[in-house]
Amino acid sequence: MSEKTSVIDVCIAGTGSYVPEKILTNEELAARVDTSDEWIVTRTGIKERRIAADDEFTSHMASKAARRALEQAGLEPLDIELIIVATITPDTPTPATACHVQQQIGAFNAVAFDISAACSGFLYAMKISKRLISDGAFKNALIIGAEKLSTVTNWEDRSTCVLFGDGAGAAILRRAEPGEGSIVATEMGTDGNLTHLLEIPGGGSACPITSENVNQHTHTLNMQGKEVFKIAVNRMKEAAEKVIARAGWKAEEIACVIPHQANRRIIDAIADRLAVPNERVFINLHKYGNTSAASIAIAMDEANRTGAFKRGEYIVLVAFGAGLTWAAAAIRW
Ligand code: ACO
Repeated sequence: MSEKTSVIDVCIAGTGSYVPEKILTNEELAARVDTSDEWIVTRTGIKERRIAADDEFTSHMASKAARRALEQAGLEPLDIELIIVATITPDTPTPATACHVQQQIGAFNAVAFDISAACSGFLYAMKISKRLISDGAFKNALIIGAEKLSTVTNWEDRSTCVLFGDGAGAAILRRAEPGEGSIVATEMGTDGNLTHLLEIPGGGSACPITSENVNQHTHTLNMQGKEVFKIAVNRMKEAAEKVIARAGWKAEEIACVIPHQANRRIIDAIADRLAVPNERVFINLHKYGNTSAASIAIAMDEANRTGAFKRGEYIVLVAFGAGLTWAAAAIRW
């Protein structure tokens, strides 16, 4: 899905992130399932991941990331007009986690709702809110990617439990003033023929919660990793190329590419295909693993705060996840 040039430019005025304190290392996982630090690092690049406390919900992590983004943007919670939380691990099926965030941060003037697009969710939220701001419906938006994937991980399945982690990232979008940066181009896509490759089969209307279903781990993530891998590389490359072309940029002009942090080998393959040097590709998956919708949001905040790019520079975000879904954004920071 593509877009026409927006009338009102929309910029990213602030970013924030939060990860839980508890670190789960590869060595600790190797003590639980038949795996090793060597296998996990070689096949994925992940060294450790964060695990939220039992009483720390997706909304709590989301609110912490949101407060940091608000502070950087110089806005108060009551200034915010729209909150979108992208998550596949909401606090509850209903109400939306965004409603809990609204209450927790005191953003009582905001319309709040969730979207579910797995790892692409943060970029879906970015495109939706950008359009709503540029159309004049809202002055600003707080978008958040937040996940407590530890609650939907099968800790007995070595093929998936080594991959995921918990955390949240947020960004404040608002109308850009003349001379400020802007979200120049966005892209998103879906292939519903491939829902079976990556899913949590239980917990919804198709397979409601029963003790029998829970015993069979139907409430945890299943993935056909190899198939997902191949499609991820192609779709992410195509989505990134589309936004780069639409923005009219050349690969050598891009200061930073921030890909979904699922697998180091996927990230390297994309950097290769886009002809962007590795040092311009932001990677933090060794610390956090795959945090689904939170992944790009956390990475963008870390990249922003550690000076991986400056105001006016070009950055590209690109994601891929269950659905299957994919998305990309080209941003003049
Ligand atoms: N430790 C040791 N051995 C393992 C482990 C483990 N943790 N996991 C699997 N293995 C074994 C397998 O059993 C298999 O053994 P076999 O050859 O005897 O059958 C062997 O290692 C190879 O397994 P593969 O699944 O083929 O390994 P692969 O190299 O494909 O790596 C991985 C698996 C890391 C999951 C990779 O396929 C991947 O990253 N896929 C994409 C994930 C992704 O991008 N997901 C999208 C977003 S997630 C979301 O939306 C929530």
